[in-house]
Amino acid sequence: MANSNLTKAKRAKNDEFYTQYADIEKEITAYLEYNPDVFRGKTLLLPCDDPEWSNFTKYFAQNFERLRLKKLISTSYAVESKTYKGAYQPTLFETSAPYYDKVKTKKNGKIFTLTRDKTGDHTINVDDLEWHYLEGDGDFRSAEIKALRDEADIIITNPPFSLFREFLAWIVEASKQFVIIGNKNCVIYKEVFPLFMENKMWSGRTEWSGGLWFETKDPTDIDKVIEGVNMKNVSSVWFSNIDHGRRHQPLPLMTMADNLKYSKHKEIQIKGYQKYDNYDAIEVPFTDAIPSDYDGVMGVPISFLDKYNPDQFELLGSNRGVDQDPTRVYGRGSNIDGKETFKRIFIRHRKATK
Ligand SMILES: C[S@@+](CC[C@H](N)C(=O)[O-])C[C@H]1O[C@@H](n2cnc3c(N)ncnc32)[C@H](O)[C@@H]1O
Repeated sequence: MANSNLTKAKRAKNDEFYTQYADIEKEITAYLEYNPDVFRGKTLLLPCDDPEWSNFTKYFAQNFERLRLKKLISTSYAVESKTYKGAYQPTLFETSAPYYDKVKTKKNGKIFTLTRDKTGDHTINVDDLEWHYLEGDGDFRSAEIKALRDEADIIITNPPFSLFREFLAWIVEASKQFVIIGNKNCVIYKEVFPLFMENKMWSGRTEWSGGLWFETKDPTDIDKVIEGVNMKNVSSVWFSNIDHGRRHQPLPLMTMADNLKYSKHKEIQIKGYQKYDNYDAIEVPFTDAIPSDYDGVMGVPISFLDKYNPDQFELLGSNRGVDQDPTRVYGRGSNIDGKETFKRIFIRHRKATK
């Protein structure tokens, strides 16, 4: 296997990427700004976590009272079940507990819960977390974690990249609210895109450009080191079915005539808006070049979903006569002059349907 293939194979198996506190805070703040009671009285489940040092657990435990949560549950996946194991050392927090178990520390997952002021300091925070070993390894697909999912109102996590589709289906089958991280290319998968079309899933608050930086456990696969911490940039984005303000901000656009004259994209000024060979729609290769006054169907890059405001646009997807799903990936099969374009999704201004 060539070297680059080896690296790719290794990356595909490495699910150990840890989300930064500031990224979690920025994302969650947007839901709170839109609805200050969004978490009030709710049970939150943070699965696929490592609660002893996860920033998800830390953020929600620290903000338990401010968010008026009813219950916080966080679960981890057993070290021995992880694909990338690395060097394992149980924390002092765990080894100093009277029920610390040398076998279970590797074989079992853990559950952390927060509901009450255990320490008696009149506040509920991270010091009040209670924990024990799970019966199993904490696999989100196990009956044990499914029961926790069913108990929860909202699921929040950065799930294993390699199991994203399965994880999303696991949430959707239980009709739960969610805020999760996934790769932006996931949006065109057959299990994902229909959810966007049906308004059952949308982009989170954080903009897609630049991806997200994670702490990584694999020292052979890092992009930079910040204050001694190994970091990796991944084209990950937030997804949710909880409303936030950015989703309702209209995308500022120019008319077609102005775009043809003033667009910052030379391609638009030179080529104009081309028509597809096999579809009555215009090709718009850049989201910021969507003409404000075109009433017909437009093919746009998948990153449009980052800016998608359902009050401004209709998502037409793949049901407009083009075979966009030959490989069960949405967005394929849009041709211009006999050549397939990049993957496209199809939209129309909402005013055109009024
Ligand atoms: C991308 S990491 C994110 C960790 C943490 N939620 C965070 O964002 O900081 C995904 C975690 O899920 C764990 N994992 C992998 N497969 C799993 C499974 N089937 N069930 C539960 N967790 C799993 C991985 O070991 C890894 O720790």
